[in-house]
This record gives sequence, structure tokens and C-alpha cells, in this order.
Amino acid sequence: MMQLFSDRLLLNIDKIDNQHKMIFEVIGKFQDACSEGRSIEIIRELIDALKTHTKDNFKQEEEYMTKYNYPEYDKHKESHNIFMRKINLLDNTITGNHISLAKLVEINEFFSEGFVTHISEVDGKLGEFLKDKL
Ligand SMILES: [Fe+2]
Repeated sequence: MMQLFSDRLLLNIDKIDNQHKMIFEVIGKFQDACSEGRSIEIIRELIDALKTHTKDNFKQEEEYMTKYNYPEYDKHKESHNIFMRKINLLDNTITGNHISLAKLVEINEFFSEGFVTHISEVDGKLGEFLKDKL
């Protein structure tokens, strides 16, 4: 499995870091399943797992933001909303029994690049803010 998570993505907030690691673990499993030509059921299960872990992670971050009156809450929340909307759109494209390679590549890029960008650009700021509060 390719190493997707790296220390530079750590916020040093255990709960959030562990959720991020879990998300990248599932992304890795998704990539393996794709390259090993696993069934559409397995692929769909992994995408569902990604959705669940993403939702849990966003919820946790939003709880911290609300609890500590994070000044950039609206901006951060909007970034989560956009992400979730895109995930829900992906869902509609994998309802049948077939999924194209192009679609799999798109989903992989969406999650891996999307998360790296979100964590380093948006969560990083939150981590800084929470650092002396948790
Ligand atoms: Fe976030």
C-alpha cells in the first residue's frame, strides 16, 4: 500500500489526526481494490466507509470549532459542505453494476488530493487555533 499520510499533515490533535489517518487508510484500501480489480460491491463498500469517516471527522472538527468559538467557522464549514456535496454527487454515478476506470481515477483523485489540500490548507489553521485549548 502506498503511504498517503505523512507527518506534515499532522495537526497534533490526536482525535482529529487519528480520524485523518483512518481516512487515508481507507483511501489506500480503495486504491488497492481498484488496482486488484475487486468487485463493484467491495469498491462501493469502501466508498461508503470513506463517506462515513469523512462525516465523522467533519462533525468532530465542527464540534471543536463551535465549542471554542473558532473565528473562521463559516469558511471552514463551507469547505466541509462543498466536500460533502461532491461526495454525494459521486454516489449517484455508482448506482449501477459497472464503474468506469476513468470514474475510479476521478474518485481516487477527489479523495486523496482533496483531503491533502483540505488538511494542509484548512485544518492546519484550525489545528493552530486549537493547539493551546485542548
Ligand atoms: Fe476540516
